[in-house]
Amino acid sequence: MKNWWKEAVVYQIYPRSFKDSNGDGIGDINGIIDKLDYVKELGIDIIWLSPVYKSPNDDNGYDISDYRSIMDEFGTIEDWERMLEQIHRRGMKLIMDLVVNHTSDEHKWFIESRSSKDSPKRDYYIWHDGKNGSEPNNWESYFSIPAWTYDEATKQYYLHLFTSKQPDLNWENPKVVDEVFDMMKWWLDKGIDGFRMDVINLIGKPEGLLDSVRFGERYDGYVFDPALYANNQKTHTYLKQMRKKVLSNYDVMTVGETPMVTPDIALEYVDVKNEELDMVFHFEHVESVGNAVPKGFFRIMLFVIGELWNMLLHGSRKFDVLKYKDLVNRWYTVIERGGWNSQYFSNHDQPRQVSKFGDVTTYHRRSAKMLATLIHTLPGTPYVYQGEEIGMTNIKLLSIDDYRDIATINAYKKAVEGGIPAAFAMMAVHSKSRDNARTPMQWNSEKYAGFSTGMPWLKVNPNYKKINAEKQANDPASILTYYKKIISLRKEIDTLVYGDFKIMDEKNRRSISYIRKYESKKLLVIINLTGKRAHAKIDKDIDLARAKVILTNIRKSSFAGDGHVILKPYEAAIIEL
Ligand code: NOJ
Repeated sequence: MKNWWKEAVVYQIYPRSFKDSNGDGIGDINGIIDKLDYVKELGIDIIWLSPVYKSPNDDNGYDISDYRSIMDEFGTIEDWERMLEQIHRRGMKLIMDLVVNHTSDEHKWFIESRSSKDSPKRDYYIWHDGKNGSEPNNWESYFSIPAWTYDEATKQYYLHLFTSKQPDLNWENPKVVDEVFDMMKWWLDKGIDGFRMDVINLIGKPEGLLDSVRFGERYDGYVFDPALYANNQKTHTYLKQMRKKVLSNYDVMTVGETPMVTPDIALEYVDVKNEELDMVFHFEHVESVGNAVPKGFFRIMLFVIGELWNMLLHGSRKFDVLKYKDLVNRWYTVIERGGWNSQYFSNHDQPRQVSKFGDVTTYHRRSAKMLATLIHTLPGTPYVYQGEEIGMTNIKLLSIDDYRDIATINAYKKAVEGGIPAAFAMMAVHSKSRDNARTPMQWNSEKYAGFSTGMPWLKVNPNYKKINAEKQANDPASILTYYKKIISLRKEIDTLVYGDFKIMDEKNRRSISYIRKYESKKLLVIINLTGKRAHAKIDKDIDLARAKVILTNIRKSSFAGDGHVILKPYEAAIIEL
């Protein structure tokens, strides 16, 4: 079935780091308005805005203290309304971040909830007595600390799957569900076009909150084991209600952030028949093809060894090509079976894609364009994260004190406390920290990269004079120009949206090649995922000598007609057959 959100390209704005309009070093809504023409010129249809709600910023806005007002540093609700109007005026849409697995501990619900065991809001959150004088179970949160915090006032523990300032909401309480649904309607009635739903598959909690036995005891006794609570059947019930009572009354799109999903699990959320979500973000490619964010002593040690090994072998981390192709094939079955996919490598939680999967020294431009080719030609809706379109890279800050991300700081602390040498822990920080993606957007080569006139909240990447939007705007060979081209191609050729998908030359260890076919139109995409030359085999019935290359990331891709092609490092080509 055709849908506008299948044809669209989404651009994620992380407001804190996008554009500062008032010189306080923090991006804001007026800054976003100033840059809407830039986003439009890129060819974007939908903006996904990371949280702009009131928040004490323990986790940069993912800890919300008031769902219906705007964070002071970002502006006012009037600014936000003007932004929405300006987005719509340019023919774009806006989706907001919906963070309802947890609130801030400074949300009035939690303040009331923690005030007494008899508070009418007590059951808005998940409170438990301790077990043998400590936490109710051994869960570790996503941010390297125990998932329970003791509250002296009422002598019970509350659950938080993230920081202790992000208490989990209790979705089993119908009042919580009603509050969330009302809040969603409030934003939808303002005219927004959908939601990106933060860790939405964690909202349903298992009965009994039992200990994890999965990895055995760690040195500190806590176990990070999201399989225990991710994808609980209750979550499906809540999402079905949400669709029925709220979303179905509007023409909107939804994308759920869902850790711990395989294609089969994802399909339960996105199968049109199930009436839950339109698509999800899975993590298989960013976690298993590259490397997972390490947690715990042994995994960090393994990571460090792997990292050193990789550096010795290749100088940087590379694709596991066969694994990646298998994964792409498996995820295509979600679409074949009646769902839809998202395509992304980057967001505000991931290291910069060109640093992780490409090559920032010899083939910066070419490898950045190669990754763009994947995202925009694989089946699913493409998501571009701010700065990706100019090939922004990871940053190496020398001291842990320069990092701002709570997940990074906690993981570092835990690693060092657990006995990992600080220099090793810093290596993990450099390649994994979420701050890699959060350094200010590089607009031009002026001070602070044109992001702000004041000192930015997080350091600017020192490469901003080389990598910035202004420099790339009129350069026909730039990464930015390539993004514009590939995005407009996706608009012209619906084969890239609705075409079916078939991989060829499956066993090739360096390249991925696939056919997209829709009605009578056929495209071939050939991509060398590595920094070495690759030989790719093309099916016998394809006459490449006569085919037309419609986009390539090298000066000229040319192929002989004998079924064998030789690809330059990171070469990518889209060919009309
Ligand atoms: C996922 C978000 O993308 C991340 O930035 C945040 O820290 C957690 N969810 C908690 O809200």
